Amino acid sequence: MDSQTNSPDPSRSPLVSRKTVLRAALAAGAAVPLAMTGAPALARTFAETGTPVEVTPACDDGDDPTPSQIEGPYFKPNSPQRTSLLEAGTPGTRLTLTGYVFGLACRPISGALMDFWQADTNGAYDNTGFRFRGHQYTASNGSFTLTTIVPGLYPGRTRHLHVKVQAPGRPVLTTQLYFPNEPRNNTDSIYDPRLLMAVRDGGGGREASFDFVLDVPQDPGGGDPSDPPTGGTWAVGTTYGTGATVAYGGRTYRCLQGHTAQPGWEPPNAPALWQLV
Ligand SMILES: [Fe+2]
Repeated sequence: MDSQTNSPDPSRSPLVSRKTVLRAALAAGAAVPLAMTGAPALARTFAETGTPVEVTPACDDGDDPTPSQIEGPYFKPNSPQRTSLLEAGTPGTRLTLTGYVFGLACRPISGALMDFWQADTNGAYDNTGFRFRGHQYTASNGSFTLTTIVPGLYPGRTRHLHVKVQAPGRPVLTTQLYFPNEPRNNTDSIYDPRLLMAVRDGGGGREASFDFVLDVPQDPGGGDPSDPPTGGTWAVGTTYGTGATVAYGGRTYRCLQGHTAQPGWEPPNAPALWQLV
């Protein structure tokens, strides 16, 4: 892709341009965190078509957080910690869901708890054990991957996944994710198109992506109070080339993609631009 054609004027808004740069860097493969499916939906879409198709709620300045939905009757606490819900002897079409968890300023949230539960391929929930239930935590760059199967249908509902997402120390978001082009999307009263995943064939089954935006206040320019203090050599306005290293907050980072530093692009806040050495 040509990142230039999709990049807004950087002078318009440092927030928009930060997001654009982050996604452009991901699309260029600069910091794809996962081997095959780590790039977010937008990056994949850019790469394939050259035009953005935002079917999932995009993290953008002023955007509303990801909508909540009812929990339903089948949630169980104490699910096992695992990123794959696949088990021997469980039939179904493989589904790999990837994405990121952002706060209100589009900064990734690491260590966010994500607890998934879903029906099996026949539309049944395991209410005695923990089949197709599992929790995990987002990586340092806010990314997550869930390996599972496409859930089956059950009476009264369209096809969906359940998930609870919680940033550390913050309230729990309970919601559901949906599949495009499902006939029952038109008749399910709970269905919300803002919760549609981007889904395509791939990986021996289906590949889905969805980025969550949690109602977590973030300082877009100054960093969280919990961030390490600035004291290194990183500086706004400095142009860094790929491979350059800087010190920031007592740590050393390597530049993954050439850019000119702007407020909010501090190395811990821009995992697509800076890698901890
Ligand atoms: Fe359900």
